[in-house]
Amino acid sequence: MKKPPFLIVAIDGGAASGKSSTAHALSARFNFLHADTGSYYRALTAELLHRGVKPTDAQSVRAELADLKFDTQIIARDARLKIHGDRISDADIRSEAVNAAVSHFAALPDLRAALLAYQRGLADLARTHGFAGLVIEGRDIGTVIFPSADFRIFLHADPHERVRRREREGQADAVAERDRLDSSRASAPLTCPAGAVAIDSTHLPLIEVVERIARLITVRRMES
Ligand code: CDP
Repeated sequence: MKKPPFLIVAIDGGAASGKSSTAHALSARFNFLHADTGSYYRALTAELLHRGVKPTDAQSVRAELADLKFDTQIIARDARLKIHGDRISDADIRSEAVNAAVSHFAALPDLRAALLAYQRGLADLARTHGFAGLVIEGRDIGTVIFPSADFRIFLHADPHERVRRREREGQADAVAERDRLDSSRASAPLTCPAGAVAIDSTHLPLIEVVERIARLITVRRMES
């Protein structure tokens, strides 16, 4: 039987729109490498806060970024960012301080540029490690990082439902404020890419969201 083509699935959406759960399920189903790029912005934010840098001080951000080295640890099917060989803990990247600062750092073009080549390089990393594809989620994946991805998905959900999701996870998170900052910034704003498949997950269970995307992938694999 012919080997299925290597596929790139880009998933974008606002805070708590269901990107991570959806990407995680697709990764397990199709043996795709999973990249949660929000966790990369969070890890960089935690590192810069630790170094005493403020997002308002663009010059210091630039100077610190020049000193940072990135590589990847693959845990099961997850591509985790390592900075200087260390992985920042999940508790640290999900702290309230990071929740409050991440969108301010993410609005800086220098910081986005620092992660651009790293994120694109994950496709080759996935190929090298024998994965059948890459499922990569964030805010600008279908618009900037992989505009020619095989599938570009945009997840919507009602803002109240998204706040409730975060509360159920026991997290204090300024969902609306992050959305406002992410959508209004000049550099790679959060927006539904033209031609993307838009899915509203407000009243749709996760399993249904995953099924819709899985069907698209299965059809593509059968066609090739
Ligand atoms: O916690 P949630 O899943 O809602 O967000 P996240 O995916 O962890 O991303 C945290 C923050 O990183 C976002 O609010 C954006 O400011 C930034 N981000 C970005 O600017 N571009 C991406 N591709 C991914 C995240």
